[in-house]
Amino acid sequence: MKKKLTTVEFRGTAEQEEKLLAVIEKYNGTQGAMMPILQEAQGIYGYLPIEVQKIIAEKTGVSMEEIYGIVSFYAQFKLNPDGEVAIAVCLGTACYVKGSGDILDEICNELGLASGETSSDGKFSIEATRCIGACGLAPVLTINGEVYGRLTKDDVPDILAKYR
Ligand code: FES
Repeated sequence: MKKKLTTVEFRGTAEQEEKLLAVIEKYNGTQGAMMPILQEAQGIYGYLPIEVQKIIAEKTGVSMEEIYGIVSFYAQFKLNPDGEVAIAVCLGTACYVKGSGDILDEICNELGLASGETSSDGKFSIEATRCIGACGLAPVLTINGEVYGRLTKDDVPDILAKYR
């Protein structure tokens, strides 16, 4: 699934940047270090906005194209911060065959967001996930970690209404 660029203003702090620079320094000259650098950078910021990717590119000498390619390829990396209400719809096989794709589409329609996006006020984020191990409840979604199961797309408006 193609990831989107963030629409939320970047608010990285000097302290976060200091930590990031220390991580980059730690891996200086290490082969195959980009994955751990990106993982640790996401640990610091909670996501990997373009601003953070640029710092990594500048300090490691790896091109932005390459870094962006990695970040957008791997599902573990987020280009957008989680919203205050972070919604994740499982697209694992058990959920998908029970219609979780329709549920994801319905939520995106309701929120006016594409999967992987965060609303510009930072309130809602929506993403697709792999199996979360609750297949018996398929199709499932989580909101801030709370699991909602055996859903149909008709349940979506009521669920969202709780968080608006
Ligand atoms: S496939 Fe959705 S919880 Fe396992």
